[in-house]
Amino acid sequence: MLKAHALIFFGPPGAGKGTQAHALSVAFGIPHISTGEMLREAVRLETPLGLAAKDRMESGELVSDEIVSGIAAERLARPDCEDGFILDGFPRTIGQADFLERLLREQGRGDPLVIYIRVASCVLMKRLSGRRTCPICGTIYNIYFEPPRVDEVCDIDGAALTVRADDGEAAIRQRLDSYEMMTRPLLDYYKVRQQLVEVEGDRAPAEVASDISELVSREMASTA
Ligand code: AP5
Repeated sequence: MLKAHALIFFGPPGAGKGTQAHALSVAFGIPHISTGEMLREAVRLETPLGLAAKDRMESGELVSDEIVSGIAAERLARPDCEDGFILDGFPRTIGQADFLERLLREQGRGDPLVIYIRVASCVLMKRLSGRRTCPICGTIYNIYFEPPRVDEVCDIDGAALTVRADDGEAAIRQRLDSYEMMTRPLLDYYKVRQQLVEVEGDRAPAEVASDISELVSREMASTA
């Protein structure tokens, strides 16, 4: 249905890219591809890739373009991406965006639609420091904004919730700095190409999801 479509969720750390990409993936039946999640899995499994990326991730710095573009290309070549996919956290440098542009062209896909989730920077620290994740089902909570029914326990499967290794204050500051320096310039990159749409992310997650879903449905109808 989303034949050839690449959706990119874009925004600073804590904007809600993972939360919204998960919801859209369930609603539209296309894969949610998070380079952060793939890298965290490699770190957990202590693969050579994970060992190479671990220190940079935990201190909040970006992993090299070469490593990240390699894992993204490998993932996008899988059959479940044929009818479309949602990228979360990739691209985040001009080099990665150029790489993706070439890759999409080689795969015969159309231009990507970049959904920028705009959130005031003052709320990001609280969103990130309050994040908790279920290690079993991946549900994302927030102790301030989206708490589980029982403290630190997943509503769905009862697992003890975990804190991400890069959600300490120092790493969050570094991630926000990396975003400003390396990733924010992509806003202009995609604006110039007329591939960027903006969504106000400083509202309840369900309201943000409803706007995104409407926007994507409109886009699908216009390219059907
Ligand atoms: P990655 O995993 O991509 O992390 P990130 O970009 O820092 O983004 P986050 O996952 O922290 O935030 P999010 O926007 O997904 O927000 P979420 O929905 O979770 O990358 C991690 C690291 O991997 C990087 O630092 C880097 O080292 C490496 N890496 C990954 N990709 C790379 C690349 N392409 N190049 C180089 N290195 C790369 O929500 C956050 C919190 O807010 C949650 O608690 C949630 O419940 C809450 N929340 C969400 N929406 C709302 C809302 N509307 N209202 C209130 N609370 C909300």
